[in-house]
Amino acid sequence: MKNIFSLEEKNILITGASSGIGKSIAIECSKMGANLIITGRNLIRLNETFQLLSGESHQMICADLVNSNEIKSLTDRLPILDGIVYAAGINTKTTAKYINEEKINAIMKINYYAPALLIQSVLKQKKLQKEASIVIISSIASTYAAVSNAIYASSKGAINSLIRVLALELAPQKIRVNGIQPGMVKTDILEAYDLKEELEVFTRTIPLGRLARPEEIAYAAIYLLSDATVWVTGTSLIIDGGTTLR
Ligand SMILES: NC(=O)c1ccc[n+]([C@@H]2O[C@H](COP(=O)([O-])OP(=O)(O)OC[C@H]3O[C@@H](n4cnc5c(N)ncnc54)[C@H](OP(=O)(O)O)[C@@H]3O)[C@@H](O)[C@H]2O)c1
Repeated sequence: MKNIFSLEEKNILITGASSGIGKSIAIECSKMGANLIITGRNLIRLNETFQLLSGESHQMICADLVNSNEIKSLTDRLPILDGIVYAAGINTKTTAKYINEEKINAIMKINYYAPALLIQSVLKQKKLQKEASIVIISSIASTYAAVSNAIYASSKGAINSLIRVLALELAPQKIRVNGIQPGMVKTDILEAYDLKEELEVFTRTIPLGRLARPEEIAYAAIYLLSDATVWVTGTSLIIDGGTTLR
């Protein structure tokens, strides 16, 4: 009997695959049998992920997703997809007094515009299979307030709304759109925290007592990409060790 969580024979695009959560999602999805197209900007680190994938039917394509021409040429090279995981993103901390247009643009371009435009491009070129699954990495930051996180939190709030509207729009094609809202995960993005002590203090407040490991987010991505969730759309799964319980 087929494992309901299997990703065999599914073509899945994973962005942000050169680092952290996206890298872990790529590795774990390859173990579940997916044929992957992994993308990121940094060729050396993307290739490191590529070397760690199980199986042989994978492809890697470098693309800067804030550039609409690169979104177009990435889409041109894609096969028909059964799934997309959007895990590219950045965070820089800024208190309200120091917010400016440049900082807003930098975060919104990759955290919000890029997934919206990539999905548009893939739909326009008919590169999404009927019954495909789209998974976008949001964040608990969208609703869990933290000082100096206004721009990042807003970008993830916008993603939550995008997820719900796209889920409704794409439902007639049985395409599902869901999000994952991680709490703090041990990845390079935490370099946005200037103070190591700030992170240590925060970690002590997490009910389950530690930061997440990237693979703990990857397992949720597998669930949402798999046939186990064919009737799940428009949701966002919180994975935060209990952070938002208080
Ligand atoms: N870590 C956490 O605590 C946490 C918590 C909640 C949500 N998240 C979200 O999870 C996602 C992944 O974060 P992470 O922690 O894995 O961060 P990360 O380790 O810093 O990885 C970020 C990824 O985004 C890619 N990226 C950034 N700018 C890009 C651009 N212009 N074009 C294409 N790719 C670009 C990077 O590619 P290159 O390195 O090749 O440039 C890299 O692969 C983000 O959306 C983040 O907001 C993270």
